[in-house]
Amino acid sequence: MLGHDIQQVLGARPFTALARHDLDILNTESVGRAVSGHDVVINCAAYTKVDDAESHESEAFAINAEGADNLARAAKSFGARLIHISTDYVFNGQSTHPYDELAAREPLGAYGRTKAAGEELILEAYPEGSTIVRTAWLYGQHGPNFVSTMLRLATERETLSVVNDQRGQPTWTRDLASKLVELVDSDVTHGILHGTSSGETTWFDFAREIFALSGLDPERVQPTDSASFVRPAPRPAYSVLGHSGWAAVGLTPLRDWRESLSQALESGVGK
Ligand SMILES: NC(=O)c1ccc[n+]([C@@H]2O[C@H](COP(=O)([O-])OP(=O)(O)OC[C@H]3O[C@@H](n4cnc5c(N)ncnc54)[C@H](OP(=O)(O)O)[C@@H]3O)[C@@H](O)[C@H]2O)c1
Repeated sequence: MLGHDIQQVLGARPFTALARHDLDILNTESVGRAVSGHDVVINCAAYTKVDDAESHESEAFAINAEGADNLARAAKSFGARLIHISTDYVFNGQSTHPYDELAAREPLGAYGRTKAAGEELILEAYPEGSTIVRTAWLYGQHGPNFVSTMLRLATERETLSVVNDQRGQPTWTRDLASKLVELVDSDVTHGILHGTSSGETTWFDFAREIFALSGLDPERVQPTDSASFVRPAPRPAYSVLGHSGWAAVGLTPLRDWRESLSQALESGVGK
């Protein structure tokens, strides 16, 4: 989902985009060949099925930790900068204020553990050339996501229940892609940044906003809580990430989630 938008934002610049069938990041030799000749590597590859990871943690670990480590080592040996995408799930969700970039990693589930391990391996292998950008609650044109699910359910059901006790920052992949390209153009070589929209909300309020902006009656969305919507992987209750890292490197954080959502829907996201 994110990789496609990065390609769109890059437009006419010279870049190589590789899907899994072009490059398996677990194959160290292929990773070396792919990285060679490039100045910057953006790693969007991941095992992203949060619930499945609970029963397939070693597979998720291979991709999210060992694959990321392979890319960091190859980037180091070819002198390329690495930009690696990570997640709010590295945190425990128990905070009451936005997570600082340097807050301790304390993942709740398997997906978060494997992504946290990926961050740690990268920072061990290539701290001077790796920038970790954590994101969360992504939606976009190229993949199943919350916005497309809400708009589909709106055609199938009169009312739907959405959890109102998890807070986060809905983030349009196009906004994040643009910010990543700004990062490529900057002289930032390393560190941790939070690539989520500004502002915060709950899934329930996010769903209501999707309905309202799509000309649907938001009252059709009813609040529920996580206890009545149990899934295999635990979800962090509070996934709001702080953005002070951007100013420290002379860049601005992503804009407010409502403004992005409005533009994303106008541009056809979710249809
Ligand atoms: N989506 C979210 O809400 C969210 C939230 C927080 C963080 N993130 C992070 O943001 C990044 C991008 O997420 P996304 O939603 O764009 O993910 P996505 O749509 O699931 O894309 C992940 C891609 O990685 C590929 N991949 C998996 N294993 C691979 C391997 N061994 N070698 C090469 N490619 C491999 C997948 O290929 P196949 O489809 O063929 O398996 C898929 O194309 C990920 O790092 C994710 O952890 C996402």
